[in-house]
Amino acid sequence: MSNIAWNDNLSIGVDLIDEQHKSLIGKIADLEEALHSGQGPAEIVRILTFLMDYTKFHFGTEERNMRAYDYPDLDAHLAKHGEFKTTLANLSDDFKEEGATQGLADSIETLLMNWFVKHIKDVDHRFGEFLRENALTMSEDG
Ligand SMILES: [Fe+2]
Repeated sequence: MSNIAWNDNLSIGVDLIDEQHKSLIGKIADLEEALHSGQGPAEIVRILTFLMDYTKFHFGTEERNMRAYDYPDLDAHLAKHGEFKTTLANLSDDFKEEGATQGLADSIETLLMNWFVKHIKDVDHRFGEFLRENALTMSEDG
């Protein structure tokens, strides 16, 4: 049974972001599932590519809104997004070099899911509070 799933504790109280977080976690779960069920490399590359594209899109939404509202923690938040994108690119390279190893499957959970959950509960949650405190709303295309 996969540990990778959305739960309501992850809500930051901003619908647009919550929906994107759900999609991203769903994609991480798809990747884990594809590795465990021995899907072929083409399918795994397809999911990894989608995950990288969607991550870029999602972080872009957050970052545009943070910029638009002069969010004070923008730089620290950007650095964290950069960290995740690098990790994801490294995992993708590992897959291309070594295939679907157990190490890669473990990394999906530890490096992607655990990182992402912590990120949501910590810094994304703080951004949600900032929006509420200042009565601001998020928009998809900033
Ligand atoms: Fe974020």
